[in-house]
Amino acid sequence: MTDFTGMTSLGSDYRALVLGASGGIGSAFVEVLRADPRCGEVAGLSRSVDGFDVTDEDSVAAAAARLSGSGARFDMILCATGALTIDDVGPEKAIKAIRPEAMAAQFAVNAIGPALVLKHFSPLLASDRRSLFAALSARVGSIGDNRLGGWISYRAAKAALNQIVRTSAIEIARTRPNAVVVTLHPGSVDTGLSSAFAKGHDRLVPTDSAARMLSVLDSLEPAQSGGFHAYDGQPVEW
Ligand SMILES: NC(=O)c1ccc[n+]([C@@H]2O[C@H](COP(=O)([O-])OP(=O)(O)OC[C@H]3O[C@@H](n4cnc5c(N)ncnc54)[C@H](OP(=O)(O)O)[C@@H]3O)[C@@H](O)[C@H]2O)c1
Repeated sequence: MTDFTGMTSLGSDYRALVLGASGGIGSAFVEVLRADPRCGEVAGLSRSVDGFDVTDEDSVAAAAARLSGSGARFDMILCATGALTIDDVGPEKAIKAIRPEAMAAQFAVNAIGPALVLKHFSPLLASDRRSLFAALSARVGSIGDNRLGGWISYRAAKAALNQIVRTSAIEIARTRPNAVVVTLHPGSVDTGLSSAFAKGHDRLVPTDSAARMLSVLDSLEPAQSGGFHAYDGQPVEW
């Protein structure tokens, strides 16, 4: 695993919450954070284990209410949910392959889902100190960086996610001036999501990607809230 010295910008005994904790990258976040001696608690929620479904607002609201009811406040919330293939439908290769229901499903999981997470979970971010929120986007959601085409629905949903997080960051800064709210590109990572599309591509080990993204988050200032950064610390163009 990449050297990860721990989250130095958060207080000792900080509390983290990973949404999508069952996923390749989500479970790597949990593993890396559990190994950080400064981390007081890592809570995780996922669809397959807890029935936490970002396409169902009642499920998102109920999960947030359960945590809120127990008085929980988090120093860091990581939204690692997302999908590239949904109901056996993979990303389109051409315009003629666009299917409205498949596109709507992409938006439900990759854009509206994290928007609902922001709606119900951002109130759980600590307000009296530095706090961090990150949602996993993808470089292919960058409009300026799009040179290959294809994958229209997934790209568009991630571009929408970037706008949702950017807009939310501006509002959250009004009540939480020390918050950093960003989207992150994890790199090409060896998980179930990417395995069918990995031929000929090097992929990062999930814990490596998670550790590098945590280092990036640790380094960001509130003035950089609303940004889109890659696992290597470089900003990604919109
Ligand atoms: N892997 C890559 O190379 C790569 C590259 C760029 C961006 N990303 C992004 O990184 C994120 C994580 O991807 P990954 O590689 O870790 O994929 P993964 O291993 O397939 O994990 C996806 C996670 O999302 C959860 N999920 C899917 N649909 C959900 C829903 N409707 N409600 C709640 N949870 C849902 C899954 O939950 P269950 O399994 O419990 O159902 C799982 O925890 C995604 O947003 C992806 O777009 C990945």
